[in-house]
Amino acid sequence: MTKRKILITGGAGFIGSHVVRLFVNKYPDYEIYNLDKLTYAGNLKNLTDIENAPNYHFVKIDLVDALALTNLFNEHQFDSVIHLAAESHVDRSITNPLEFVMTNVVGTVNLLNAAKECWKGNMEGKLFYHVSTDEVYGSLHDGGFFLETTPYDPQSPYSASKASSDHFVRAYQNTYKIPVVLTNCSNNYGPNQFPEKLVPLFINNIRNNKPLPVYGKGENVRDWLYVVDHARAIDVVYHNGKIGETYNIGGFNEWTNLGLIKVICSTMDKILGRPVGESEKLITYVTDRAGHDLRYAIDANKIMKELGWEPSLQFEEGIEKTINWYMDNQQWMDEVTSGDYANYYDTMYKGR
Ligand code: NAD
Ligand code: TYD
Repeated sequence: MTKRKILITGGAGFIGSHVVRLFVNKYPDYEIYNLDKLTYAGNLKNLTDIENAPNYHFVKIDLVDALALTNLFNEHQFDSVIHLAAESHVDRSITNPLEFVMTNVVGTVNLLNAAKECWKGNMEGKLFYHVSTDEVYGSLHDGGFFLETTPYDPQSPYSASKASSDHFVRAYQNTYKIPVVLTNCSNNYGPNQFPEKLVPLFINNIRNNKPLPVYGKGENVRDWLYVVDHARAIDVVYHNGKIGETYNIGGFNEWTNLGLIKVICSTMDKILGRPVGESEKLITYVTDRAGHDLRYAIDANKIMKELGWEPSLQFEEGIEKTINWYMDNQQWMDEVTSGDYANYYDTMYKGR
C-alpha cells in the first residue's frame, strides 16, 4: 500500500473524528494530520482512543489564517487533503451568516490555495477531497431524489456557504488542474455529535425531562445515515473515487422529524424503564426555523453501483446504538453542554 500523508480538516468535530479514527486505525502506514480550530464544536476528547497512535498528529489552526496553512503545507508536503472543517449548524447560520462565509468559503479557498502552491508543477498522486452536504441541492417538494446532476439551489446561509465552497473546489480543478473529488451526504447521526443538532439534543432533553422543541409541525423530512457509514464511504471515495466526480451519500432512510422523534422517545422509554409513551409527552411545538427546508432525500445509487459502498447498519440498530452511546457517555455530554452552550440554548429557544 502506498504511504500517504493526509491532512484531515475538522477532525475534532462529529464526522471528522470518525473519519480520523477510521484512517488512523485502518492505515497504520499513513501519516494522519488533524487540523482543527477547536471551535465550540471541536472536541479532542472525541479522539482520546487514538491520540497516542504513532501515525496521528494534531495541529490547531484556523482555516481563515492563510499564512499558517501555507507554512503547514511547506513543512509537511501533504499529498492529499480530506476537508471536513466547517461551521455546520443551520440555526447558527441564520443568526450569524458571516462566520459561515469566513470558515466555509474563505477557509476553503485558503486551503485550496495552500494545496495549489504546494502541488504546483506536480499534481501526480495528489487529491483534494471536499466533504459537502445534500443541503446544497435545496428543498424537495414534489417527491423525487437529489442526484449528482441536480442543480444547486441552496436555501439557508449554511447551505449557500457550502454550495459556494463546492463551486470553488470545482473551479480550482478546472482552472489550476487540482485533482478533486466531492461527496454530498445526507443528515448524519451517531456518537459524538454536538447536542445542538436534533438527535443528541432530543436524547439529552428526554434524559433530563426537558421539553423537546419541534420546529413547526414536525413534518419536515430528512434522510438519516449512521456516521460510521459516512466515514466508510469517505474511505471508499478517497481510495477509489474518480477524479473530478461528485458522489451522493445517503441511507435511503427518510423520516419526518416527528416520526424520528417518536422512535427516539420509545427507544428512550425502553432504555430508561419509563412507561410507554412517557417521553413523547415532552414534545413541544415551537416557532418554525426561518426558511425551513421541507425535504432532503439522496439518491445514493452512483456510489453504491460504481464503488460498491452501502450502509452497514439498519436505522433501528443505529439509533439504539447511538442512544446507548449518549447514555454511557454522560460526562462527555455534561462537558459539552456546560459553559457557553448553556447561554446559546437559552438564547436560541427563548420565546420560540
Ligand atoms: P461539526 O460542527 O461537528 O465539526 C466541525 C469541525 O470543524 C469542528 O471540529 C470545528 O472545530 C472545526 N472548525 C470550524 N471552523 C473551523 C476553522 N475556521 N478552522 C479550522 N477548523 C474549524 O461538523 P460535522 O457535522 O462533523 O460536519 C463535518 C463536515 O461534514 C462539514 O463540512 C459539513 O458541512 C459536512 N456534512 C455534515 C453533515 C451532518 O449531518 N452533520 C451531513 C453532510 C455533510
Ligand atoms: P438539524 O439536526 O439541525 O439538521 P439540519 O437542519 O441540517 O437538517 O435538524 C434536523 C431537523 O430537525 C430539521 O428539520 C430541523 C429540526 N429541528 C427541530 O425540530 N428542533 C430542534 O431543536 C432542532 C435542532 C432541529
